[in-house]
Amino acid sequence: MQFQSLIKRAMIGAAMLGAAGTLQAQGVVKLGLVAEFSGPFAQYGQQILGGMKAYMKQHGDTVAGKKIEIVQKDTTGPAPDVAKRLAQELVTRDNVDFLVGFGLTPNALAVAPVATEAKKPMIIMNAATSIITTKSPYIVRVSMTLPQITQPMAQWAAKNGIKKVYTVVADYGPGLDAEAAFTKAFKAAGGEMVGSVHTPLQNPDFAPFVQRVKDAKPEAVFLFLPAGEQGIAFMKSYKERGLADAGIKLIATGDITDDGVLDAMGDPTLGLVTSFHYSASHNSPENMAFKKAYAEANGTTLRPNFMAAAGYDGMAAIYEALRKTNGSTDGDKIMAALKGMKLSSPRGAIMIDPETRDVVQTVYIRKVEKTGGGLYNMEFDKFPDQKDPGK
Ligand code: PHB
Repeated sequence: MQFQSLIKRAMIGAAMLGAAGTLQAQGVVKLGLVAEFSGPFAQYGQQILGGMKAYMKQHGDTVAGKKIEIVQKDTTGPAPDVAKRLAQELVTRDNVDFLVGFGLTPNALAVAPVATEAKKPMIIMNAATSIITTKSPYIVRVSMTLPQITQPMAQWAAKNGIKKVYTVVADYGPGLDAEAAFTKAFKAAGGEMVGSVHTPLQNPDFAPFVQRVKDAKPEAVFLFLPAGEQGIAFMKSYKERGLADAGIKLIATGDITDDGVLDAMGDPTLGLVTSFHYSASHNSPENMAFKKAYAEANGTTLRPNFMAAAGYDGMAAIYEALRKTNGSTDGDKIMAALKGMKLSSPRGAIMIDPETRDVVQTVYIRKVEKTGGGLYNMEFDKFPDQKDPGK
């Protein structure tokens, strides 16, 4: 009798514990962060996570009664097979509710089918090739697309007296998108394309490409390179080969003058005109608050860049979606909540296009200037309400 009641008590205890366990599991929302945390693109992961942490610093780690947890995975660079395996593990072993991050296009493309299969919302915080959002109905992009950023640059260049352009782009999705968008918009505005080269994504040596551009004598070079170290290397070749001295202007998307490396690129960038959606110098209360929270959460050694801003906005979108679903993480309910969402981002107002699930935003034209605090991209012109023109 005594033994039976002991067992009974143990069973009730286990049941209670089980219930409590379930309750606890239900009280947590897990974000599986897939990004580049090592290798030459390690700053991508660092900036994205830094932005996510800044949001949590400002808004706390709970929303709609749920605690937000980040499970972090390193793709080590452009490694689609690794990214896919990590995403599968996050879904099956870690039981995550969202897949987030994705600095590089090849990694985002590889994970799209995992999001579809598992019905997990996938929030793109950088990867910027136009087609990415078409690869799964569970993808939302809060960053940018290269055509969206490039078209205004081409229109601005044509309007400002530049007639002959040579394009230099990284030889993969975003670079090819940038080249196509620039060529189309620049020709439509009466400009002439005089040549193009594609540079390798891994370990590029820019000297021969830069020489080729110099020999073709264009009025300007239009450049897209993935943010970070490549920009530093390109600017070195551009200066060494005397392109500026030969009167060849440089115009680019703002990836090249990424806030994380701009000071390291130094004075050769002064006066460089770029188009982009985010500058650390953007003058708004939202951006001031973002930069303050970023420094509090991550220290002050790294200036937040556009990837940090997208990490921050991605978190804002997730928090807002969870509020709308009353904490439900059901993939379809979250997607419905994300479509058409408007946010006050550090870059200005943004919207998730309900049809394409891509971001709609202002694209700014900026110029590198020296301020008391170092080199900054100073916004001086803008193209409001830009959609991805590829869709
Ligand atoms: C991308 O791989 O999509 C990518 C990477 C770095 C950038 C922009 C786009 O600066």
